[in-house]
Amino acid sequence: MAFKRPKIALIGGGQIGGVLAQLCAQRQLGDVVMYDIIENMPQGKALDIAEAARINQFDIKLFGTNTYKDIEGADLCIVTAGVPRKPGMSRDDLLTVNANIIKTVGENIKKFAPDSHVIVISNPLDAMVTLMQYVTGFPTNRVYGQAGVLDSSRFATFLAWELGVSVKDINALVLGGHGDKMVPLIRYANVNGIPVMELLKEKYGSSARAREIIDGIIERTRNAGTEIVTLLQNGSAFYSPAASALQMMEAVLHDEKRLLPVCAYLQGEYSVDGYYVGVPAILGKDGVEKIIEITLNEEEQKMFASSVAAVVKLVEDLIRLGFLPPKYHYQRGKLELVG
Ligand code: APR
Repeated sequence: MAFKRPKIALIGGGQIGGVLAQLCAQRQLGDVVMYDIIENMPQGKALDIAEAARINQFDIKLFGTNTYKDIEGADLCIVTAGVPRKPGMSRDDLLTVNANIIKTVGENIKKFAPDSHVIVISNPLDAMVTLMQYVTGFPTNRVYGQAGVLDSSRFATFLAWELGVSVKDINALVLGGHGDKMVPLIRYANVNGIPVMELLKEKYGSSARAREIIDGIIERTRNAGTEIVTLLQNGSAFYSPAASALQMMEAVLHDEKRLLPVCAYLQGEYSVDGYYVGVPAILGKDGVEKIIEITLNEEEQKMFASSVAAVVKLVEDLIRLGFLPPKYHYQRGKLELVG
Protein backbone atom coordinates (compact mmCIF):
# COMPACT_ATOMS: atom_id res chain seq x y z
CA MET A 1 0.00 0.00 0.00
CA ALA A 2 1.25 3.45 -0.92
CA PHE A 3 1.07 6.06 1.81
CA LYS A 4 -0.21 9.46 0.86
CA ARG A 5 -0.10 12.86 2.50
CA PRO A 6 -3.51 14.51 2.84
CA LYS A 7 -4.28 17.11 0.18
CA ILE A 8 -5.56 20.39 1.58
CA ALA A 9 -7.27 22.92 -0.69
CA LEU A 10 -7.46 26.48 0.61
CA ILE A 11 -10.16 28.23 -1.40
CA GLY A 12 -9.41 31.90 -0.91
CA GLY A 13 -5.82 33.02 -0.57
CA GLY A 14 -6.44 36.34 1.15
CA GLN A 15 -5.57 37.24 4.71
CA ILE A 16 -6.92 34.11 6.42
CA GLY A 17 -5.97 31.80 3.53
CA GLY A 18 -2.40 33.08 3.52
CA VAL A 19 -1.85 32.68 7.27
CA LEU A 20 -3.47 29.27 7.12
CA ALA A 21 -1.15 28.14 4.33
CA GLN A 22 1.83 29.11 6.47
CA LEU A 23 0.43 27.32 9.53
CA CYS A 24 -0.32 24.17 7.50
CA ALA A 25 3.23 24.19 6.16
CA GLN A 26 4.83 24.71 9.56
CA ARG A 27 2.78 21.84 11.02
CA GLN A 28 3.39 19.63 7.93
CA LEU A 29 -0.34 19.01 7.93
CA GLY A 30 -0.45 17.92 4.29
CA ASP A 31 0.19 19.12 0.76
CA VAL A 32 -1.44 22.49 0.23
CA VAL A 33 -2.98 24.08 -2.85
CA MET A 34 -4.22 27.65 -2.46
CA TYR A 35 -6.81 28.86 -4.97
CA ASP A 36 -7.85 32.47 -5.53
CA ILE A 37 -9.43 34.42 -8.37
CA ILE A 38 -6.75 37.11 -8.18
CA GLU A 39 -4.20 36.20 -10.82
CA ASN A 40 -0.74 35.27 -9.56
CA MET A 41 -1.47 36.31 -5.96
CA PRO A 42 -1.84 32.77 -4.50
CA GLN A 43 1.18 31.67 -6.55
CA GLY A 44 3.21 34.51 -5.03
CA LYS A 45 2.14 33.79 -1.46
CA ALA A 46 2.77 30.05 -1.84
CA LEU A 47 6.22 30.70 -3.25
CA ASP A 48 7.03 33.08 -0.42
CA ILE A 49 5.98 30.52 2.22
CA ALA A 50 7.80 27.69 0.42
CA GLU A 51 11.01 29.68 0.43
CA ALA A 52 11.00 29.58 4.25
CA ALA A 53 10.95 25.76 4.27
CA ARG A 54 14.69 25.42 4.92
CA ILE A 55 14.45 27.79 7.87
CA ASN A 56 11.27 26.40 9.37
CA GLN A 57 12.19 22.80 8.51
CA PHE A 58 9.04 21.73 6.73
CA ASP A 59 8.80 19.56 3.68
CA ILE A 60 5.43 19.58 1.94
CA LYS A 61 4.16 20.43 -1.52
CA LEU A 62 2.67 23.92 -1.58
CA PHE A 63 1.47 25.87 -4.58
CA GLY A 64 -0.96 28.61 -5.58
CA THR A 65 -3.38 28.49 -8.48
CA ASN A 66 -6.17 30.26 -10.36
CA THR A 67 -7.50 26.98 -11.77
CA TYR A 68 -10.08 24.93 -9.91
CA LYS A 69 -8.87 21.69 -11.51
CA ASP A 70 -5.79 21.91 -9.29
CA ILE A 71 -7.89 21.13 -6.20
CA GLU A 72 -8.72 17.75 -7.75
CA GLY A 73 -8.81 14.94 -5.20
CA ALA A 74 -8.50 17.25 -2.17
CA ASP A 75 -9.29 15.57 1.15
CA LEU A 76 -10.07 18.79 2.98
CA CYS A 77 -11.26 22.13 1.56
CA ILE A 78 -11.10 25.28 3.69
CA VAL A 79 -13.22 28.06 2.29
CA THR A 80 -12.32 31.65 3.05
CA ALA A 81 -13.29 32.99 -0.37
CA GLY A 82 -15.40 36.08 -0.02
CA VAL A 83 -15.39 39.65 1.03
CA PRO A 84 -14.55 40.68 4.60
CA ARG A 85 -16.36 43.39 6.54
CA LYS A 86 -15.56 47.07 6.37
CA PRO A 87 -16.08 49.37 9.38
CA GLY A 88 -19.78 49.88 10.04
CA MET A 89 -20.80 46.62 8.36
CA SER A 90 -22.24 43.61 10.14
CA ARG A 91 -21.42 40.07 9.00
CA ASP A 92 -24.97 39.83 7.68
CA ASP A 93 -24.32 42.72 5.27
CA LEU A 94 -22.07 40.35 3.33
CA LEU A 95 -24.88 37.90 2.57
CA THR A 96 -25.56 38.47 -1.14
CA VAL A 97 -22.03 39.06 -2.32
CA ASN A 98 -20.58 36.12 -0.42
CA ALA A 99 -23.49 33.80 -1.31
CA ASN A 100 -22.66 34.29 -5.00
CA ILE A 101 -19.04 33.41 -4.29
CA ILE A 102 -19.89 30.36 -2.14
CA LYS A 103 -22.22 29.05 -4.86
CA THR A 104 -19.39 29.01 -7.41
CA VAL A 105 -16.89 27.62 -4.91
CA GLY A 106 -19.32 24.87 -3.87
CA GLU A 107 -20.00 23.83 -7.46
CA ASN A 108 -16.28 23.47 -8.09
CA ILE A 109 -15.64 21.55 -4.87
CA LYS A 110 -18.43 19.18 -5.84
CA LYS A 111 -16.87 18.72 -9.27
CA PHE A 112 -13.22 18.37 -8.35
CA ALA A 113 -13.18 17.15 -4.75
CA PRO A 114 -16.39 15.16 -4.33
CA ASP A 115 -15.11 13.12 -1.39
CA SER A 116 -13.68 16.03 0.58
CA HIS A 117 -14.65 17.55 3.88
CA VAL A 118 -15.45 21.27 3.69
CA ILE A 119 -14.80 23.75 6.49
CA VAL A 120 -16.37 27.12 5.76
CA ILE A 121 -15.06 30.33 7.32
CA SER A 122 -16.64 32.97 5.04
CA ASN A 123 -19.31 35.16 6.62
CA PRO A 124 -22.15 35.31 7.47
CA LEU A 125 -20.93 31.93 8.62
CA ASP A 126 -24.01 29.90 9.48
CA ALA A 127 -25.78 30.89 6.25
CA MET A 128 -22.69 30.23 4.12
CA VAL A 129 -22.27 26.72 5.58
CA THR A 130 -25.94 26.03 4.84
CA LEU A 131 -25.51 27.13 1.25
CA MET A 132 -22.27 25.15 0.85
CA GLN A 133 -23.99 21.96 1.99
CA TYR A 134 -26.91 22.60 -0.35
CA VAL A 135 -24.72 23.33 -3.38
CA THR A 136 -22.35 20.38 -2.87
CA GLY A 137 -25.03 17.98 -1.71
CA PHE A 138 -22.40 16.41 0.56
CA PRO A 139 -23.54 14.62 3.72
CA THR A 140 -23.93 17.12 6.55
CA ASN A 141 -21.17 15.53 8.66
CA ARG A 142 -18.70 16.52 5.91
CA VAL A 143 -19.70 20.19 5.69
CA TYR A 144 -19.23 22.35 8.76
CA GLY A 145 -18.13 25.79 9.81
CA GLN A 146 -15.55 27.52 11.93
CA ALA A 147 -16.79 30.17 14.29
CA GLY A 148 -17.22 28.75 17.79
CA VAL A 149 -13.54 27.87 18.22
CA LEU A 150 -12.68 31.51 17.57
CA ASP A 151 -15.52 32.97 19.63
CA SER A 152 -14.61 30.66 22.54
CA SER A 153 -10.94 31.60 22.29
CA ARG A 154 -11.85 35.28 22.39
CA PHE A 155 -14.05 34.65 25.45
CA ALA A 156 -11.16 32.76 27.11
CA THR A 157 -8.71 35.59 26.35
CA PHE A 158 -10.90 38.24 27.97
CA LEU A 159 -11.57 36.01 31.01
CA ALA A 160 -7.85 35.39 31.48
CA TRP A 161 -7.07 39.11 31.34
CA GLU A 162 -9.80 39.91 33.85
CA LEU A 163 -8.84 37.14 36.28
CA GLY A 164 -5.10 37.58 35.96
CA VAL A 165 -4.55 33.88 35.19
CA SER A 166 -2.94 32.09 32.29
CA VAL A 167 -5.24 31.71 29.32
CA LYS A 168 -3.95 28.12 29.09
CA ASP A 169 -6.00 27.22 32.16
CA ILE A 170 -9.29 28.63 30.85
CA ASN A 171 -12.10 26.48 29.47
CA ALA A 172 -14.82 28.50 27.83
CA LEU A 173 -17.53 27.73 25.33
CA VAL A 174 -19.59 29.92 23.03
CA LEU A 175 -22.70 28.50 21.35
CA GLY A 176 -25.18 29.72 18.76
CA GLY A 177 -24.82 31.56 15.48
CA HIS A 178 -21.70 33.57 14.63
CA GLY A 179 -23.36 36.93 15.11
CA ASP A 180 -23.90 39.49 17.84
CA LYS A 181 -26.43 37.16 19.51
CA MET A 182 -23.89 34.38 20.10
CA VAL A 183 -24.12 32.74 23.52
CA PRO A 184 -20.97 32.72 25.72
CA LEU A 185 -21.81 30.20 28.44
CA ILE A 186 -20.91 31.62 31.86
CA ARG A 187 -21.92 28.55 33.87
CA TYR A 188 -19.60 26.27 31.94
CA ALA A 189 -16.62 28.67 31.93
CA ASN A 190 -13.92 27.68 34.40
CA VAL A 191 -10.26 27.99 35.31
CA ASN A 192 -8.94 24.45 35.64
CA GLY A 193 -12.36 23.38 36.90
CA ILE A 194 -13.05 26.39 39.17
CA PRO A 195 -16.14 28.27 37.93
CA VAL A 196 -15.23 31.78 36.74
CA MET A 197 -18.13 33.29 38.66
CA GLU A 198 -16.63 32.01 41.94
CA LEU A 199 -13.32 33.64 41.09
CA LEU A 200 -15.01 36.89 40.12
CA LYS A 201 -17.04 36.92 43.35
CA GLU A 202 -13.87 36.35 45.31
CA LYS A 203 -12.13 39.17 43.46
CA TYR A 204 -14.94 41.73 43.78
CA GLY A 205 -16.60 40.56 47.01
CA SER A 206 -20.12 40.79 45.56
CA SER A 207 -22.25 38.72 43.20
CA ALA A 208 -23.79 41.83 41.64
CA ARG A 209 -20.38 43.31 40.74
CA ALA A 210 -19.19 39.92 39.45
CA ARG A 211 -22.26 39.80 37.21
CA GLU A 212 -21.53 43.30 35.86
CA ILE A 213 -17.99 42.28 35.04
CA ILE A 214 -19.02 39.08 33.28
CA ASP A 215 -21.70 40.94 31.32
CA GLY A 216 -18.98 43.29 30.08
CA ILE A 217 -16.85 40.33 29.01
CA ILE A 218 -19.80 38.75 27.19
CA GLU A 219 -20.46 42.00 25.37
CA ARG A 220 -16.82 42.32 24.35
CA THR A 221 -16.79 38.68 23.13
CA ARG A 222 -19.90 39.26 21.02
CA ASN A 223 -18.36 42.39 19.50
CA ALA A 224 -14.80 41.09 19.25
CA GLY A 225 -14.92 40.81 15.47
CA THR A 226 -16.27 44.34 15.12
CA GLU A 227 -13.60 45.66 17.51
CA ILE A 228 -10.91 44.35 15.17
CA VAL A 229 -12.68 45.56 12.01
CA THR A 230 -12.81 49.04 13.56
CA LEU A 231 -9.11 48.97 14.44
CA LEU A 232 -7.92 47.56 11.11
CA GLN A 233 -10.16 49.80 8.99
CA ASN A 234 -9.50 47.72 5.86
CA GLY A 235 -10.30 44.11 6.70
CA SER A 236 -11.36 41.75 9.45
CA ALA A 237 -9.55 39.46 11.87
CA PHE A 238 -7.32 36.88 10.25
CA TYR A 239 -4.63 35.52 12.59
CA SER A 240 -7.09 34.09 15.12
CA PRO A 241 -9.58 32.78 12.53
CA ALA A 242 -6.71 30.96 10.79
CA ALA A 243 -5.51 29.47 14.09
CA SER A 244 -9.08 28.36 14.85
CA ALA A 245 -9.43 26.67 11.48
CA LEU A 246 -6.12 24.91 12.00
CA GLN A 247 -7.36 23.41 15.27
CA MET A 248 -10.39 21.98 13.48
CA MET A 249 -8.27 20.69 10.58
CA GLU A 250 -5.91 18.89 12.94
CA ALA A 251 -8.87 17.35 14.78
CA VAL A 252 -10.14 15.88 11.52
CA LEU A 253 -6.86 14.93 9.82
CA HIS A 254 -5.46 13.34 12.99
CA ASP A 255 -8.80 11.83 14.01
CA GLU A 256 -8.47 13.46 17.42
CA LYS A 257 -12.13 13.24 18.52
CA ARG A 258 -11.84 16.78 19.91
CA LEU A 259 -14.86 18.27 21.59
CA LEU A 260 -15.06 21.70 19.99
CA PRO A 261 -17.78 24.21 19.25
CA VAL A 262 -18.60 23.67 15.58
CA CYS A 263 -21.16 25.14 13.22
CA ALA A 264 -22.93 21.82 12.66
CA TYR A 265 -26.20 20.64 11.15
CA LEU A 266 -28.84 19.99 13.80
CA GLN A 267 -31.56 17.42 13.37
CA GLY A 268 -33.57 17.76 16.54
CA GLU A 269 -30.67 18.41 18.92
CA TYR A 270 -31.23 21.49 21.07
CA SER A 271 -34.81 21.38 19.70
CA VAL A 272 -33.56 22.75 16.38
CA ASP A 273 -34.26 20.78 13.23
CA GLY A 274 -32.77 21.52 9.85
CA TYR A 275 -30.34 24.36 10.56
CA TYR A 276 -26.62 24.87 10.96
CA VAL A 277 -25.80 26.41 14.34
CA GLY A 278 -22.75 26.49 16.63
CA VAL A 279 -22.85 23.65 19.18
CA PRO A 280 -20.29 21.42 20.91
CA ALA A 281 -19.46 18.43 18.73
CA ILE A 282 -16.91 15.64 18.42
CA LEU A 283 -14.61 16.27 15.45
CA GLY A 284 -12.70 13.36 13.99
CA LYS A 285 -11.95 11.61 10.71
CA ASP A 286 -15.65 11.49 9.82
CA GLY A 287 -16.02 15.21 10.40
CA VAL A 288 -18.83 16.05 12.80
CA GLU A 289 -19.12 12.64 14.41
CA LYS A 290 -21.48 13.51 17.25
CA ILE A 291 -23.36 16.54 18.50
CA ILE A 292 -23.01 16.95 22.26
CA GLU A 293 -26.19 18.17 23.90
CA ILE A 294 -25.58 19.98 27.16
CA THR A 295 -28.25 21.19 29.54
CA LEU A 296 -29.10 24.85 29.19
CA ASN A 297 -30.92 26.77 31.90
CA GLU A 298 -33.84 29.04 31.08
CA GLU A 299 -31.72 32.14 30.49
CA GLU A 300 -29.28 30.25 28.25
CA GLN A 301 -32.12 28.65 26.31
CA LYS A 302 -33.63 32.05 25.66
CA MET A 303 -30.34 33.46 24.39
CA PHE A 304 -29.76 30.37 22.26
CA ALA A 305 -33.26 30.63 20.77
CA SER A 306 -32.68 34.27 19.89
CA SER A 307 -29.35 33.43 18.27
CA VAL A 308 -30.94 30.59 16.28
CA ALA A 309 -33.72 32.96 15.18
CA ALA A 310 -31.05 35.25 13.67
CA VAL A 311 -29.64 32.27 11.72
CA VAL A 312 -33.14 31.31 10.54
CA LYS A 313 -33.66 34.85 9.26
CA LEU A 314 -30.47 34.66 7.19
CA VAL A 315 -31.49 31.29 5.74
CA GLU A 316 -34.87 32.79 4.87
CA ASP A 317 -33.08 35.67 3.15
CA LEU A 318 -31.13 33.12 1.09
CA ILE A 319 -34.44 31.52 0.07
CA ARG A 320 -35.90 34.93 -0.81
CA LEU A 321 -32.82 35.78 -2.88
CA GLY A 322 -33.09 32.49 -4.76
CA PHE A 323 -29.92 30.83 -3.44
CA LEU A 324 -31.88 28.10 -1.68
CA PRO A 325 -35.10 26.55 -3.00
CA PRO A 326 -38.40 27.72 -1.53
CA LYS A 327 -39.43 25.88 1.60
CA TYR A 328 -35.86 24.67 1.96
CA HIS A 329 -36.21 24.42 5.68
CA TYR A 330 -39.64 22.88 5.62
CA GLN A 331 -38.24 20.02 3.53
CA ARG A 332 -35.61 19.47 6.16
CA GLY A 333 -37.75 19.85 9.23
CA LYS A 334 -39.13 22.91 10.87
CA LEU A 335 -37.67 24.96 13.61
CA GLU A 336 -38.94 24.40 17.09
CA LEU A 337 -37.52 26.49 19.86
CA VAL A 338 -37.70 25.61 23.50
CA GLY A 339 -38.88 28.27 25.94
N1 APR B 1 -13.37 32.53 -5.67
C1 APR B 1 -12.25 32.40 -4.94
N2 APR B 1 -11.74 33.38 -4.18
C2 APR B 1 -12.41 34.52 -4.15
C3 APR B 1 -13.60 34.73 -4.87
C4 APR B 1 -14.07 33.67 -5.67
N3 APR B 1 -15.19 33.78 -6.39
N4 APR B 1 -14.02 35.98 -4.63
C5 APR B 1 -13.15 36.54 -3.79
N5 APR B 1 -12.17 35.65 -3.51
C6 APR B 1 -10.98 35.84 -2.69
C7 APR B 1 -10.42 37.25 -2.76
O1 APR B 1 -9.70 37.45 -3.95
C8 APR B 1 -9.56 37.29 -1.51
O2 APR B 1 -8.20 37.00 -1.79
O3 APR B 1 -11.25 35.61 -1.32
C9 APR B 1 -10.15 36.20 -0.62
C10 APR B 1 -10.67 36.72 0.70
O4 APR B 1 -9.59 37.21 1.41
P1 APR B 1 -9.64 38.58 2.23
O5 APR B 1 -10.36 39.60 1.44
O6 APR B 1 -8.26 38.88 2.67
O7 APR B 1 -10.58 38.19 3.48
P2 APR B 1 -10.20 37.35 4.77
O8 APR B 1 -9.80 38.27 5.86
O9 APR B 1 -9.28 36.23 4.42
O10 APR B 1 -11.65 36.79 5.15
C11 APR B 1 -12.33 35.89 4.31
O11 APR B 1 -13.63 35.02 6.12
O12 APR B 1 -13.83 35.83 8.29
C12 APR B 1 -14.43 35.75 7.02
O13 APR B 1 -15.76 37.75 6.89
C13 APR B 1 -14.58 37.11 6.42
O14 APR B 1 -15.95 36.41 4.59
C14 APR B 1 -14.63 36.81 4.96
C15 APR B 1 -13.71 35.60 4.83
